[in-house]
Amino acid sequence: MEIVVSGIRPTGNLHLGNYFGAIKNFIKMQQSYKCYFFVADYHSLTTHPNPADLHNNVLQVLSEYLACGIDPEISTIYIQSDLPQTTELYLLLNMIAYKGELERATTFKEKISKQPKNINAGLLTYPVLMAADILIHRADKVPVGKDQEQHLEMTRDYAKRFNYLYKTNLFPEPVAFNFNEKLIKIPGFDGTGKMGKSEENALYLSDDPDTITKKVMRAVTDSGPAKKNQVKPEPIQNLFTLLEAVSTPDTVSHFDEQYNNCTIRYGDLKKQLTEDIIKFTAPIRERIKEIQSDKDYIKKIVKLGAEKAHKSADDTIKKAREIIGIKKFY
Ligand code: TRP
Repeated sequence: MEIVVSGIRPTGNLHLGNYFGAIKNFIKMQQSYKCYFFVADYHSLTTHPNPADLHNNVLQVLSEYLACGIDPEISTIYIQSDLPQTTELYLLLNMIAYKGELERATTFKEKISKQPKNINAGLLTYPVLMAADILIHRADKVPVGKDQEQHLEMTRDYAKRFNYLYKTNLFPEPVAFNFNEKLIKIPGFDGTGKMGKSEENALYLSDDPDTITKKVMRAVTDSGPAKKNQVKPEPIQNLFTLLEAVSTPDTVSHFDEQYNNCTIRYGDLKKQLTEDIIKFTAPIRERIKEIQSDKDYIKKIVKLGAEKAHKSADDTIKKAREIIGIKKFY
């Protein structure tokens, strides 16, 4: 079975856009691939998060992914810092990662303009740690977005370089994984673009019904269709896209018809949308709470993940050390 690896940034709450993007894909993938998902806590240290926030964010994303349906029995879900083999491989790969190419990485250039006072070596070698995450399980496929493709290319470069330098074929060259799912791009509420992290624009899986109601009611609209069967402007199309994600096809065509014959009332549309978002997210929200309050369950899952990840990583690191010439004297 092919191996899939993906890292999850511990950035706190997940929103509907995350759900209909990466997460839904992850859940499907579990059935046909050997999946390793991990919370990338080391990576987030490049921005010096507050220690209490870091811990809470790790717990939050972990419980949210589990609540959405990542199955810790079928897949392996673990915390990056629970797998020291990754950090060892990171050190080994650093010896074949060149400063010039790291400085040329687009993400590095963006980061240094964002945090010019904290251009640390971890930031520079972020792609090497990511390569170690992937190569430690000798993954074939990595489900990442466009913004991570350069990192994946660097991962392939390190794999190739290692294999060439040590005349081995230890590492496969992992490719970006576009799962055959049609992804719905979930728009935000401010009328333009996709759902982002900002408080107003995003609808979090953990938002309570009141918050959901407020956010939907505030969504940008216009004064209504001026003529029959006109093309919907972006803010209106966005509401329909959300409706398509969470409502039944009948509901969508009901409002579509009303829009097309100019009888639509946006208030009704928003009311329906609110109701259906609440219905859709309620079981996930409840499950998040359930998981977070069950410390024993979290402990058990995290331990299970670490054990499964260790099994795969141990073999890789043992081989890498031997190939490099690091042999035990005792
Ligand atoms: N860099 C990725 C991101 O920002 C997170 C990540 C870390 C990752 N290690 C990874 C993704 C390994 C895929 C594979 O989203």
